[in-house]
Amino acid sequence: METISHASNTEQTYFPEAILKEWDNGIRQYSTRRGSTEILISYIPPGLHMDLHAHEEAQLGMVISGELIMQVGEHQRHMKALDSAYIAPPFVPHGAVNPTDQEVIAIDVKRLKDDEVYTAPDDYFLDVYRTRDLLPGMEVTFFVEDWIEIMLADIPGNGGAMPEHKHRNEQLGICIGGGYEMTIEEYTRTMEFGVTYFCEAREKHSAINTSDHHSRSINIFMPPRYNKNKNR
Ligand SMILES: [Fe+2]
Ligand SMILES: [Fe+2]
Repeated sequence: METISHASNTEQTYFPEAILKEWDNGIRQYSTRRGSTEILISYIPPGLHMDLHAHEEAQLGMVISGELIMQVGEHQRHMKALDSAYIAPPFVPHGAVNPTDQEVIAIDVKRLKDDEVYTAPDDYFLDVYRTRDLLPGMEVTFFVEDWIEIMLADIPGNGGAMPEHKHRNEQLGICIGGGYEMTIEEYTRTMEFGVTYFCEAREKHSAINTSDHHSRSINIFMPPRYNKNKNR
């Protein structure tokens, strides 16, 4: 009885209002959460060192604008906007430095769910797995690990759309440029920079960009729709 299982859901379930966390070191973080997954959008001041720390949740992230030197375990990478992602599995120490004189904006996802196994590449960093046109004019870039897939997607303006669909994969994401309308089940939200969405398995969703310029989003699928070992 689908109607009963969704009865307690509201717009807040799918598009939660962000909570602002302001840290003593100057970092501002906007947090949204549904169930076992939290999305953090962080504004990191110039020159800031974020000390190594570790926790039981798996964490992954990307730079949205600017550059960061990210450390995970014994490995470091100079990450630039949207060029790679890191994965810190549970209890693997991680930290970062903003080596520039510009504020950096980064996204992190923290997650702890029973029966999920949080694998990572040997050096903890994911490179682009493939790029293709999902629909005409809708270029997408994928990063893939055994338990997760990250898809960067551009939706063209003037009516570019992702038609309504659903799938067994949980899907969540964040708008990082431009704007579009996203619908999950019976709720529609205007997506703009920093707005997040959360979609459980088999919840219907769609998106349309009626503005006159393209929009961009980071979308995360768990489990991944690609098997990186099979398709390699
Ligand atoms: Fe962390
Ligand atoms: Fe989807």
